[in-house]
Amino acid sequence: MSEPQLHVDDEPERRVGELLAAAARAGESIVLTGGSSVGHAYEHAASLEPDWSKASVWWGDERCVPPDDERSNYLLAKRTLLDHLADEPDVHRIRGELQPADAAGAYEKAIDGAELDFLLLGLGPDAHIASLFPGSPQLEEDERLVTSGPAGLEPFVERITLTLPALLSAKRIVFLVTGADKADAVRRGFREPVTPDAPASLLREGSVPIDVYLDASASGG
Ligand code: 6PG
Repeated sequence: MSEPQLHVDDEPERRVGELLAAAARAGESIVLTGGSSVGHAYEHAASLEPDWSKASVWWGDERCVPPDDERSNYLLAKRTLLDHLADEPDVHRIRGELQPADAAGAYEKAIDGAELDFLLLGLGPDAHIASLFPGSPQLEEDERLVTSGPAGLEPFVERITLTLPALLSAKRIVFLVTGADKADAVRRGFREPVTPDAPASLLREGSVPIDVYLDASASGG
């Protein structure tokens, strides 16, 4: 079992930006996330370290939309991180423009055998991680590394997501969580008993170190 370390900070986005910059400098393979909280962390990481040429970047999940769609997790990272770098990493995006099963198959082929050094995750208000939503059958996938399925929250487009075994193959997991609307999910995901009703809690069944960077509102005080 892994015991998540909670780091309450006034500016958790900056702390995570610093960690991302250090990982890029060290040439790590970094798994990025989507959502509304991470953009500032990406911008800060790019300003601290513009040379990502030794690193590779992957995504933990993607919405099934083209890469220039406003809902795309790739587009978020492109605008806030990749476009600001002097030297780009090796970029392995999930091809959300394909049919979900095809996109999942292609991404699984690409990521199979890759060592994932740094897995960045956001936390949904329902305690979902990547695109693994409470009670979804995708949570039970124990052979595939990548799967697809419906979204449990907005935007309601099909999702491609790493499975729990793939997430738990990472060497370290870093969460960025901000805002009072996440306080309940923080409690259910990191403090209360493990349950598929709070997918984040399932990560505690592995042995991967988990660091959660959060602001005071998300910590519930
Ligand atoms: C996505 C995600 C998702 C996200 C959380 C937190 O594609 O939406 O990767 O797992 O990280 O929902 O998102 P917010 O930061 O928007 O709350």
